[in-house]
Amino acid sequence: MNNGTILSRLRVTLMVAICLMSFMQFFFLHLHGTDRDDLYPKYPRLDDPVSQASNKVTGLADSTPIQTRRLRLDYTNSRDAPLYTALTNSTNLTFCGSCPYNILITCSERVDELMDKYRLTRFDAQNELLANCGIDYLNEPYVLLHVGPHKTGTTSIQEFLYNSLESNSTSYLDEDNFAIPTYTQLPGWFKGHGAMLNFAHCMIKNYRGDGGRVSAGKCNELRQIFPKFLREAYNQSKNVLIVAEDLDRLEIDYVRTLYWLQPYRRIRVAVCYRRLHHWLPSFYNQIVKMYTPKYIRGDYPYPSFVEWIDEKYHHFKQVHSIQVANRYRSSNKFESVSMMNLHSEINLIEDFFCNYVPHANATCEFIKRKNATDERISNQGYNHDFERLATEAFRAGKLNHYHHAIANKMAKKLEALMPDARAYPKKCLNQTFLDELLQLEHDIEKTHFKEWYDGQGGEAGLKEDFENSKALYCSMNTEFIMNNGMFDRLFDELNKAKK
Ligand SMILES: *[C@@H]1O[C@H](CO)[C@@H](O)[C@H](O)[C@H]1NC(C)=O
Ligand SMILES: *[C@@H]1O[C@H](CO)[C@@H](O)[C@H](O)[C@H]1NC(C)=O
Ligand SMILES: *[C@@H]1O[C@H](CO)[C@@H](O)[C@H](O)[C@H]1NC(C)=O
Ligand SMILES: *[C@@H]1O[C@H](CO)[C@@H](O)[C@H](O)[C@H]1NC(C)=O
Ligand SMILES: *[C@@H]1O[C@H](CO)[C@@H](O)[C@H](O)[C@H]1NC(C)=O
Ligand SMILES: *[C@@H]1O[C@H](CO)[C@@H](O)[C@H](O)[C@H]1NC(C)=O
Ligand SMILES: *[C@@H]1O[C@H](CO)[C@@H](O)[C@H](O)[C@H]1NC(C)=O
Repeated sequence: MNNGTILSRLRVTLMVAICLMSFMQFFFLHLHGTDRDDLYPKYPRLDDPVSQASNKVTGLADSTPIQTRRLRLDYTNSRDAPLYTALTNSTNLTFCGSCPYNILITCSERVDELMDKYRLTRFDAQNELLANCGIDYLNEPYVLLHVGPHKTGTTSIQEFLYNSLESNSTSYLDEDNFAIPTYTQLPGWFKGHGAMLNFAHCMIKNYRGDGGRVSAGKCNELRQIFPKFLREAYNQSKNVLIVAEDLDRLEIDYVRTLYWLQPYRRIRVAVCYRRLHHWLPSFYNQIVKMYTPKYIRGDYPYPSFVEWIDEKYHHFKQVHSIQVANRYRSSNKFESVSMMNLHSEINLIEDFFCNYVPHANATCEFIKRKNATDERISNQGYNHDFERLATEAFRAGKLNHYHHAIANKMAKKLEALMPDARAYPKKCLNQTFLDELLQLEHDIEKTHFKEWYDGQGGEAGLKEDFENSKALYCSMNTEFIMNNGMFDRLFDELNKAKK
């Protein structure tokens, strides 16, 4: 076979795939009546590259940069390289320009043409196209990726799934035809209920090099086991759920993600929205909690929320729901990207299974019967100001006997010694910033959740919620407190109490 033949075959394969995928978008749009934003399909099907690829990466030892390079070369050197390239360069896949019916029109235009020419309903026109494409889309199983972001209740959903598996009460999941990968099918750094995060971390472009927790070498384990799970699930026409908030990262390689989800070709995405003015403090709390030992050791200065925003707002805004959804959408590689609302009145898990996971009827009913308590507000985290003060006092030699294990306890004692626990010098975010934040939230909600936004009181409702959270936008001015010595007496008291 010469190159020309290979290329022309490839082109035909791609053309057909492109056409199918574009068509599916419209088919589903119509069938489920979801909003137009919801559907972003289109990538060609690849034939069994999983087994090849997983063979290729065997035998690599753990975690050196060289393996990262070798592993990445695997894609570009493999027999699938042209398809991998096509996936990477898939702007053209947005359209059905090369549909065999007429290379000049897209599949949606073809549907319009059929409706017009043969007086078909949209549904029939789509089915007509479907029949000619030879795919039974209604029975094609899907993978749903819940891509977070962080601090939007993904943990509760992971717990729900794994508690079901652990207690063998999977009848509803079975009935809904779900396959949930077990811990052993998702090996890696994250254990237990967090196992699905291993998948996400193996999709980070340069693995650890881009801040992932799992090295390229370690990902080989997952590459051995997980594709097997997927092939078996696919063979039984099961739908697969992956709930992994680290899929929110900028460095996620979407092409690799599709590649490792084969043989599935319907990949849907769900993102959860949380108001920035709740989400940012929550994210900050989680991060400083992880870094506490390093702050105590003096590896990094302990940032206040106000400082953190000043320095990192633009960075973190990029992993907020809206941006995450935009990235998945504009990649044009996923069948749909839908956005759920953490603030909706419906319990988070119920909302997810009843309104965002297709055909999850039994699971939805089970959750409704269970009348689960609402966990969506539970993970705000606590105010870290006193812990930050105690850490700085320790670093300045004003506080003795302080280390990570007792940091929170000491912070509480310090707070208890205060005559008025909220009356301390503060530094607040400026009004310009707050106004912009609020405006952004208005814009987001009016665009994406119009009905709910109006229902909760529109502009006034959001503003009230925003104002109620105002305390979050001021941090303790520890620099002033330390320089001024105003709490030195309290530090002494703590030091004495310890003796
Ligand atoms: C994708 O297309 C761009 C130009 O459109 C090209 O420069 C680039 O090399 C292509 N990437 C691959 C992986 O082929
Ligand atoms: C994308 O489509 C345009 C117009 O249809 C075409 O000229 C171009 O060659 C295509 N690019 C690729 C990489 O197929
Ligand atoms: C679930 O089933 C497995 C295998 O049948 C069994 O080992 C395990 O004890 C069961 N767990 C519970 C909580 O019933
Ligand atoms: C599942 O695998 C079996 C055995 O290889 C095969 O006969 C069957 O057609 C497959 N089913 C599907 C739905 O792929
Ligand atoms: C307001 O605060 C933001 C965020 O900390 C900062 O980037 C900006 O420079 C501040 N603007 C003014 C006018 O102080
Ligand atoms: C889901 O289950 C409920 C109650 O069992 C039933 O009324 C409803 O028709 C079912 N919906 C679908 C789509 O199967
Ligand atoms: C479900 O929860 C609601 C509100 O907490 C309560 O009013 C209702 O009685 C509960 N229903 C059941 C069946 O437990």
